[in-house]
Amino acid sequence: MDANQLRTYEDNPAVAKAFAEEMVQQIEELTKIQDRISIAVSGGSTPKLLFELLGKEYRERIDWGKLHFFWVDDRCVPADSPESNYGQTKSLLFDHVDLPEKNIFWVQGEKDPAQESQRYESLIREWFQIAETELPEFDLLFLGMGTDGHTASIFPHEMELLNSNRLCEVATHPETGQKRITLTGPVINAAAKVYFLITGSSKKEILDQILNQKDGFLSYPAAHIHPSLPAKIYTDKAAVGVS
Ligand code: 6PG
Repeated sequence: MDANQLRTYEDNPAVAKAFAEEMVQQIEELTKIQDRISIAVSGGSTPKLLFELLGKEYRERIDWGKLHFFWVDDRCVPADSPESNYGQTKSLLFDHVDLPEKNIFWVQGEKDPAQESQRYESLIREWFQIAETELPEFDLLFLGMGTDGHTASIFPHEMELLNSNRLCEVATHPETGQKRITLTGPVINAAAKVYFLITGSSKKEILDQILNQKDGFLSYPAAHIHPSLPAKIYTDKAAVGVS
């Protein structure tokens, strides 16, 4: 994370609007030069407003048929579970736009985690037409950050996922034990454009520690996100401690 990439807005709604505008501008640019645009999205609560905005105010500006959605991570739960990141994105966004279902590559959370991580990895390799030794380059990828400094589903107790030689791995939530499928560090860092969406005062301390490289900051997975184009960090005042 690079402190120079910080963009701070009043509150979560303002962050969602600013990032929606950024995303749509990037999509409009990519639409001019590519037939397929790959987007890897995160879940959790922060992106909810973003998904709603993309499905409403910004719907007409996007050529949905060119977009292909993947997940940075998802919980190993059925799609109709309130815990499902796919289920959340579907109800807030996909159900409101003309996006062909064949363009949506969700994690099948109801499946056996180990088998699903293999399936998802193969699906990504096939879509990007890449060999075993290559990494996919998602056009756009956005992340959140947990209050423990996790990102995607890479938690502090599983730092090895930051350097995995696989594209996807099974992760375990440190408190609940919930299994998750997550993209690994190398895949995240290989994306063309990476963004963080971080809002709320609960993230302030960790964000400060990482941005200012304070003692122990490297123990947080979010501190290890270093794509070649530095990740832009969309935050609100509460997350950066500005009243
Ligand atoms: C998930 C996310 C996860 C999330 C952070 C922040 O599946 O939960 O991908 O990495 O981005 O936990 O979550 P909030 O936005 O809810 O704070």
